[in-house]
Amino acid sequence: MYIDDFITGVEMAILEKDIKCKLKNFHSQVNNEKINMTDNELLDIDKEYCTYGDKVHSVPVPKIFRDCNGVYMYDSENIPYLDLEMWFASCNLGYKNARIRNAVVDQIDTLPQISSHFQYDYKILLSEKIAKANIKRFGEKGRVHFNVGGSQVIEDALKLVRNYTHKNRVFSFFGGFHGRTLGASCLTAGYRYRKSFGHFSDEAHFVPYPYCYRCPYGKHCDSCNYYCVQQLRREFEDNCSGLYDKSSNDCALGAFFVEPIQGSGGYIVPPKGYFKELKKVLDDFGVLFVDDEIQMGFYRTGKLWAIEHYDVKPDIITFGKSLTNGLNPLGGMWAKEELINPEVWPSGSTHSTFCNNPIGMRAGYEVMKVFEEADFEKEVNNKGKYFLDGLKSLEKKHKRIGTVDGLGLALRIECVTDDGYTPDPKLLNDILEEGLKGNLSYNGKKCGIILNKGSHYNNSITLVPAVTISYDEIDMAISLIDQLFTRLS
Ligand SMILES: Cc1ncc(COP(=O)(O)O)c(C=O)c1O
Repeated sequence: MYIDDFITGVEMAILEKDIKCKLKNFHSQVNNEKINMTDNELLDIDKEYCTYGDKVHSVPVPKIFRDCNGVYMYDSENIPYLDLEMWFASCNLGYKNARIRNAVVDQIDTLPQISSHFQYDYKILLSEKIAKANIKRFGEKGRVHFNVGGSQVIEDALKLVRNYTHKNRVFSFFGGFHGRTLGASCLTAGYRYRKSFGHFSDEAHFVPYPYCYRCPYGKHCDSCNYYCVQQLRREFEDNCSGLYDKSSNDCALGAFFVEPIQGSGGYIVPPKGYFKELKKVLDDFGVLFVDDEIQMGFYRTGKLWAIEHYDVKPDIITFGKSLTNGLNPLGGMWAKEELINPEVWPSGSTHSTFCNNPIGMRAGYEVMKVFEEADFEKEVNNKGKYFLDGLKSLEKKHKRIGTVDGLGLALRIECVTDDGYTPDPKLLNDILEEGLKGNLSYNGKKCGIILNKGSHYNNSITLVPAVTISYDEIDMAISLIDQLFTRLS
């Protein structure tokens, strides 16, 4: 017996309409329910069910934030925290940037999902934008390949190097950070990133970074004549060093992965001529130059790529973080045509389900457009100089500041002991924690400050403001940092 036997055609039509209407309402209902739990209630659940394996629990009590806007994060009492970390340099254009948001919303309304083996407009156009930007900068034709997140992009770059050179091992720097997947961990210098995870047979050959304030060779950069680069050249020339076979002109390693300004290593700015000298050695011995811009790209230093300050042409560039202004974990690599043309890098060489996702591509396309339309080079340079001048005045005032330095809006402050030079990791940690208490004040209002740490000796505050930060907000930053050093040193 069927239901139709009991109801008329008209009744059936009404019933169908009713069901369709209910289904429509069900699908379009947005869950606007606000989480009304206190921080402590949330932290109790966190203790029970969240892993401690990520970096959230690197402090005894994780900090909870509820909102963000521009250069501020807001806690549960709506206290603003001036953010000088910006999600580890992932939001160079500021939180809730309306233009990038609107582009993403439009993408959600047009083509939000598409399997990554199909092609579509914004992926093609974003690739074009990046490739053309590099033709303009380096005079070099190349292609772009995407993946989800910085570490995955480093993995792809490693595959590209292996595919082209047939070499597994690469060079990397002391203090270098290139991610935490197994492959990327091979290039990330700190042993602490690897020690629990067995043997890394492809661990990089690590060489000293040009960290002139604490030169590993005890030299002075005004007179050293790039002694560190000369040392590397000597290693190549020594037939018994393990790097190079003179008789066949063959280097044992395929590439050098370089951070143009060291990020997690503490925002260290190499001297002006350094990378040119290094590149000469790499060219002489047939080693590719991979420029990791994951943290320093997208105008952090006043150029699209930080390596542009050094007048060298990279073979591969990796990027991520601010590509989407934090709205999607998209990253990518650009490589010279000869390394990545379809003959040598055929379909399927590397791929992932979400690598070509449309939300990320649309955000990335809009970010690139924003950077093309205004003179960010000038703006970041000017703001960077203004910020650094402020930091220099603090250096004069507080003897527990050993040095300050920076390029564009990638800046650092070294915390030191009373002798003015010995690294002081405790002071650094105290300052970071104090900033997160939210009890500083500016213009009579309660506020906090979010700072990050980096460096070889765990003593540097790294400052990564949005490139959209205003001069007033830079004044606020200087005042809050001043308050912290006054309280704690
Ligand atoms: C220079 C550099 N490379 C690679 C990575 C890894 O990126 P992700 O954390 O997105 O995996 C980072 C992250 O901080 C980085 O700074």
